[in-house]
Amino acid sequence: MRNWVRVLGLVWVTGRGGVVGIVFTTALDALMPAVQVVLLGVTVNAVLRAERPSELVVYPLLFGLVACLSLVFTALQGYWQASLEQRVSNTFNLKLVEKSAQLSLPDFENPRVYNMLQLATREATGRPFQMFSQLVATISGGISLVSVTGILISWNPLVAFLVLLSPILPVFVNQFFVKRLWQVERERSEERRRGEYLLALMTNDKPYKETRLFGLVPHFIQTYRTMLGRFYDVDMDIERKRSLASVVSGFVGVAVTAIAIFFAISDALAVSDVGRLAAYVSAIAAVSVAAQMFIGGFGQLFEHTLFLGNLFDFLDLRPVLEFESGDKGARVISGGPPTIVFENVTFCYPDQDRPALSSFSATFHPGKTVALVGANGAGKSTIVKLLARLYEPTEGRILINDTDIREIKLDTYRKQLAVLFQDFIQYEASLRQNIAYGRLEAMEDNERVISAAQRAKLADVIDELPYGIDSQLGKWFSEGRQLSGGQWQRVALARALFRGAPIIVLDEPTASLDAQAEEAVFEQINSEESAATKLLISHRFSTVRTADEILVISDGELIEQGTHSSLVSAGGVYAHMYALQAKGYTD
Ligand SMILES: Nc1ncnc2c1ncn2[C@@H]1O[C@H](COP(=O)(O)OP(=O)(O)O)[C@@H](O)[C@H]1O
Ligand SMILES: [Mg+2]
Repeated sequence: MRNWVRVLGLVWVTGRGGVVGIVFTTALDALMPAVQVVLLGVTVNAVLRAERPSELVVYPLLFGLVACLSLVFTALQGYWQASLEQRVSNTFNLKLVEKSAQLSLPDFENPRVYNMLQLATREATGRPFQMFSQLVATISGGISLVSVTGILISWNPLVAFLVLLSPILPVFVNQFFVKRLWQVERERSEERRRGEYLLALMTNDKPYKETRLFGLVPHFIQTYRTMLGRFYDVDMDIERKRSLASVVSGFVGVAVTAIAIFFAISDALAVSDVGRLAAYVSAIAAVSVAAQMFIGGFGQLFEHTLFLGNLFDFLDLRPVLEFESGDKGARVISGGPPTIVFENVTFCYPDQDRPALSSFSATFHPGKTVALVGANGAGKSTIVKLLARLYEPTEGRILINDTDIREIKLDTYRKQLAVLFQDFIQYEASLRQNIAYGRLEAMEDNERVISAAQRAKLADVIDELPYGIDSQLGKWFSEGRQLSGGQWQRVALARALFRGAPIIVLDEPTASLDAQAEEAVFEQINSEESAATKLLISHRFSTVRTADEILVISDGELIEQGTHSSLVSAGGVYAHMYALQAKGYTD
């Protein structure tokens, strides 16, 4: 019931005019048969009284007028329906997107959330409007039911009761099966997503190479086919039972109606009125049609409500992380590169029992470069994600210029941060957009775009592109140019530099760069030294050694810390790792 109110409220807000129009025309439509009946009666009487046909000209005109009005109403109704349907669908689809925008990263790392999203997406387009029009239809069915039943009750309440009873059982039976289908759909949402995932693997350029070379496609298709077949079998099993049950329950309904007719016949016999009998039978037929419309309408509404629940479940989802963010503004961070302090930060990913980071304390000094080194899975990227406020520390705090980052407004805070993630995005967009996504408001600032590109060593790439910085990258859209992995990485670096933020974080930014490009990039970043506090993650000691300070992370703990030369002479883990890599070059 609550869902009805919410849908109706939203439908109303979306298109008041359309709602009024549809309700108005539906009501008039419902009156049309009555008007025609009355008109017929009047005409017949007029014909009996008339002497010349010319006196009767007005009647065909009236019939014509009624027919024309009916035509206009139908057309208007169609228009309003189409307009409202689209607007309601747009409203709900946008609500889905807006909701997704509110969710936190841990939500998107939770399969349950994806299942809910998948179920909600299925309903957003059609369901809300269907529920609205079903409600209108049910109410209009209710109105005719009340009017015809009134007549029947005045004749014989028992007959009226029996006739009303006849469609109830089929409705319950139907509800049972609708609920079953709804359950099945909910239970299979994860499997359906798995199928969609396979489909995406087969219909996308990036996975193409692997899926074809490993010969995976026929296997995926077979898996997908099996899944569809299994869904079909389950659905058809339910549909078969539903058809059978609907015939049986329909028989019961017919039997009840037959009993009603029997009572009607005996009633008519008692008052020996054949006209009454004819009226009975036609009234019974009319009531059962109206009752089916009304009670059956409720069944349909039940179905819509059930499935709308899936939509609202997602829209009502509370993000796992609701960032408490103070309203401290840019004042805290403005005025040059800040000091960043991690104070005893411990962090455990949701549903994980081992912390990815334990009691991590470190200070990043203004304008300096700190390098994080450590094996895969040591916790380096976790430090970046915590700094970016994608997660909240389980214990401890992170301070920027002595202010807890939780006290700073999230938007303002994120503006101070330029992060080149390990898994950065290759936007299928122009080079300009790829770079300016780092700071949208400077999109049209050509000089700035080109300067960022040059700092990321993209000058030679631009020279080769057909439309310079306005060339489309990637292969999804027309005239797109594909870049190499290392070139894409430089584009992502340009995006980070373009942001002009006082904190720059580079998470393995040089993994796909050749040695020459890497050196050039780092010289460049180091020359911007005073402009930002920098955090660098890399496995290449040639770059790591240039950092002002190096932190060695192992299993989520800080185990060594110092400059390259101090760490090498200390002869610990760092010295060992360095020697190992150096050995590879000297052997
Ligand atoms: N989103 C996540 N959810 C749960 N565990 C994660 C997640 N991301 C990383 N981990 C785990 O946290 C640990 C540290 O990962 P990470 O910080 O990415 O390591 P790296 O030092 O290679 O960057 C690893 O054991 C990894 O399995
Ligand atoms: Mg990492």
